[in-house]
Amino acid sequence: MNILVAGGAGFIGSHLIDRMLENGDTVLCVDKLIMGDKNIEHIKGHKNFIFHMIELTDQAKVDQIFRDNNIDIVYHMAANSDIQKGGKDPAIDFNDTFLTTRTLLEGMRKANVKNLFFASTSAVYGELPDVKLTELTGGLMPVSYYGGTKLASEALISSYVSMCDMSAVVFRFPNVIGPRLTHGVVFDFINKLRKNPSELEILGNGMQCKQYIYVKDLIDVIMKLTKELKQEEVIYNIGVNSPGTTVTRIAEITVEELGLDKVKFIYTGGDRGWKGDVPRFTYDISKVLKTGWSPQYTSDEAVRQTVRDAIALGV
Ligand SMILES: NC(=O)c1ccc[n+]([C@@H]2O[C@H](COP(=O)([O-])OP(=O)(O)OC[C@H]3O[C@@H](n4cnc5c(N)ncnc54)[C@H](O)[C@@H]3O)[C@@H](O)[C@H]2O)c1
Repeated sequence: MNILVAGGAGFIGSHLIDRMLENGDTVLCVDKLIMGDKNIEHIKGHKNFIFHMIELTDQAKVDQIFRDNNIDIVYHMAANSDIQKGGKDPAIDFNDTFLTTRTLLEGMRKANVKNLFFASTSAVYGELPDVKLTELTGGLMPVSYYGGTKLASEALISSYVSMCDMSAVVFRFPNVIGPRLTHGVVFDFINKLRKNPSELEILGNGMQCKQYIYVKDLIDVIMKLTKELKQEEVIYNIGVNSPGTTVTRIAEITVEELGLDKVKFIYTGGDRGWKGDVPRFTYDISKVLKTGWSPQYTSDEAVRQTVRDAIALGV
């Protein structure tokens, strides 16, 4: 099996590649290394690992990759993952989140590659606080450029699946955390508390509540469900089997795990951290649970384990 992982030098992609190499697969990783190559440093030189540094919106280069390699399946993990940064400049999400999808699909079409895994997000749903979100929920209205370009990517994938007889598995996942995290609330709190252990600025009112999934659980279910690709597009909500974790609870867990005492929490106020943030949502994950996969970590446990990982890794 020849595997292409686009965006494989990122946080989740690098964990995925680690698992594939452990399984004995050969992996070709393509990435422009927005955050450097530290996540793949340990596998450079591995006999089954090949890396090409490319801009994924460069169609000629993407086509060349498909021509030179007999790819069986593409894992599309590339995107702008810094939602706040994208919020200041929509071109970032348009380029890195949407156009990467377009060029990969075009490359696959021309090279007759049939199988795709796509990393989508709960952000495609937008803000529907009173609705239990299932994969069949309609009327989606994303509230960030990131969510909008992910939903546009999903729509494009659907059309290629139909027009080119492809198979696609689309995962809409919430916040993913674990070792090698490079952004997000847990990462921010650890860094802020390292700089100032006596007070912590918390964006919003702290009551924003989301599900956090531990990266190992996510990789388990990606590996499980991309082994059984059928000729269609299948969408799964991915999440945890427990309530979400509030931002204040994340702050408390981080403080506890760092062994700090009497930290003053300073809230910036408002019901959300930034424009485009979705402060809470109710996710239905019964479809994926029916496949037999079940996450091992609750949302709170995932947060705690991530802080422990960061301490162990000296982050
Ligand atoms: N981390 C999360 O909480 C989360 C939640 C939901 C969905 N996702 C999705 O999962 C995927 C992986 O997320 P992550 O947290 O590992 O992100 P990440 O930022 O760590 O990794 C993304 C990688 O894509 C690469 N990339 C981006 N644009 C590129 C381009 N134009 N050309 C070449 N390479 C490019 C970056 O260099 C980076 O290495 C993304 O698609 C993201 O939207 C992540």
